[in-house]
Amino acid sequence: MDSIDYNFCSPIGVFDSGVGGLSVLKALRNILKNENYIYFGDTKRVPYGVKSKETILEYAKQDINFLVSKKCKIVVAACGTVSSYLNVVPKNSSVDVIGVIVPTCKAAVNSTKNKKIGVMCTEAAAKSGAYKAEINKIDSSCQIFTIGCPKLVPIIERGNIDEESEELVLAVKEYVNILLSQNIDTIILGCTHYPLIKDVIKKSSGKDISIIDSGEETAKFVKEYIEKTNLNTKNNKLGKCDFFVSGCKNQFSCNARLFLNEDMSDFVNKVNIEDEK
Ligand code: DGL
Repeated sequence: MDSIDYNFCSPIGVFDSGVGGLSVLKALRNILKNENYIYFGDTKRVPYGVKSKETILEYAKQDINFLVSKKCKIVVAACGTVSSYLNVVPKNSSVDVIGVIVPTCKAAVNSTKNKKIGVMCTEAAAKSGAYKAEINKIDSSCQIFTIGCPKLVPIIERGNIDEESEELVLAVKEYVNILLSQNIDTIILGCTHYPLIKDVIKKSSGKDISIIDSGEETAKFVKEYIEKTNLNTKNNKLGKCDFFVSGCKNQFSCNARLFLNEDMSDFVNKVNIEDEK
């Protein structure tokens, strides 16, 4: 296994409760090809979105500390749920932590014409009010309709992302129809799992609705940020990626192959995240 020489080029740390953050990682690897990455998926404790604020904060702290212990130069909370509470996550002073809320909200405000924005996210993210607060900070005249979609993450974690899947299509329709009834013209995929089923959501919402992809918007934001802060690598070789999971390595490897179109199984490691302080 040819894993990253962390001392040569510090990696960008990316984490999520499970496979959702792969949507951010994929977008990052598309536009920052020479960077190294360490991805952590807390697959043993997924989903985060149905848990209490206290539990989410405790998990987030462990996830961030783990990536800092791997010498990451910056950490991306590739999780809408954690990002919703990022202002209260105990910040590790040695690295900056970037979440998905600011980039996606900016893109949504730029995209909406009628100023009615729908947000699909986890129940915990909806409860936090973070998307609404961020959008209204940018434009107080926007109306925001937020909906928690608890059925989606378990379906996606099982790798069930087939456009023909009745279970998936029905669940998506249930949530999208509620937003459409509010006359929104833009939908934020506020949970990073949802870009993995973007085509199903697009089909269900129709061609007139703009879909804001948290993976792509966050990746663009991270690129700008590391260039501005001069944290970007000066390495001109193709970067590498190591994966750590708290749950089953095989299940994650299968999902990673499905979502990234690459076999990453040689680079998937197991970690006992509960040992992190
Ligand atoms: N991908 C996540 C998010 O963006 C986590 C979903 C969950 O674990 O419930 O919110």
